[in-house]
Amino acid sequence: MNLVEKIKEKARESVKRIVLPEGDEPRTVAAAKIVKDDWIAEPILLTPETIAADAPRRERYAAALYELRKAKGLTEEAAAKLAADPMYYGMMMVKMGDADGLVSGAVHSTGDMLRPALQIIKTAPGMKLVSSSFLMECPDRSLGEDGLLVYADCVVNPCPTAEELAHIAIASAETARTLCGIAEPRVALLSFSTKGSASHALVDKVREATEIAHSLAPDLALDGEMQFDAAIVPEVGASKAKGSPVAGRANVFIFPDLQAGNIGYKITQRIGKASCFAVLQGLAKPCNDLSRGCSVDDIVSTVAATAVQARQ
Ligand code: ACO
Repeated sequence: MNLVEKIKEKARESVKRIVLPEGDEPRTVAAAKIVKDDWIAEPILLTPETIAADAPRRERYAAALYELRKAKGLTEEAAAKLAADPMYYGMMMVKMGDADGLVSGAVHSTGDMLRPALQIIKTAPGMKLVSSSFLMECPDRSLGEDGLLVYADCVVNPCPTAEELAHIAIASAETARTLCGIAEPRVALLSFSTKGSASHALVDKVREATEIAHSLAPDLALDGEMQFDAAIVPEVGASKAKGSPVAGRANVFIFPDLQAGNIGYKITQRIGKASCFAVLQGLAKPCNDLSRGCSVDDIVSTVAATAVQARQ
């Protein structure tokens, strides 16, 4: 059974309500039907018309949104307008407990989906920031965890500090464990240097992030800084990072910034022929983004992953 099938099985154990704000987009409508027919989740399709038909709820969400954001300058008029927008209405459904999670992005850009999620749902207690993990399933099963590689952060944080990078590493290990069923995440913090082979401020950042992550999660198998080949190829890991608990057998890969992460996952997908999808981590309630080029199956997988995250 591949990762997506395993995630769907988990989702079926406790059916969650997942709101789809792009409810008149054809791929989303088709995915919602599959999700419902296969008992993966209870989909809630939103359109401007469905929202207009429930004025009392919209007004309740507008009032709550105003309270939430008035200190940031949101007026009552602006809150009323936003509450009529399916993306904001959907976020408020999740915030107010009327839905368990949200999936969007077949039409909206990543930023258009992320901003309301960050502003309304916010980070989970104890989490420093929201980031993402890309779950990459490679045809070569000798790589990572039986072909499964977790890449982070490829979606959210353009230029993380060392401390932020450390938190991304720990959150990604948790996603590997809880969503992918990887019992022992082995986390490599990636760089163009392995264990001091090069000197540069960019390398220092990754080294510092590794130290911070170690101090925050001493029991986690985690190491850096290291190059991608040292992280994934046993022979290279053994020669460049002898004695490392991670080198040559990493299954979670932390990229130093968003440019590296985003380029890296697309290379793995397009040249390495990996199938992949992303989840956000660190939000108080699960909301996930789609690529605008997504297929119906991609939406179904992301809804299933969101439903599993909602159980935790
Ligand atoms: N974690 C938690 N909160 C955050 C984070 C974060 N990583 N980033 C921003 N926030 C919060 C801010 O504190 C702020 O909260 P507040 O309004 O309550 O004070 C709110 O989010 C908005 O922050 P801004 O700084 O005003 O928002 P910004 O314009 O920087 O947008 C965003 C944030 C959308 C995440 C931005 O960093 C971004 O565009 N990231 C890249 C997205 C992208 O294009 N990814 C690549 C494509 S995706 C793909 O290829 C699959």
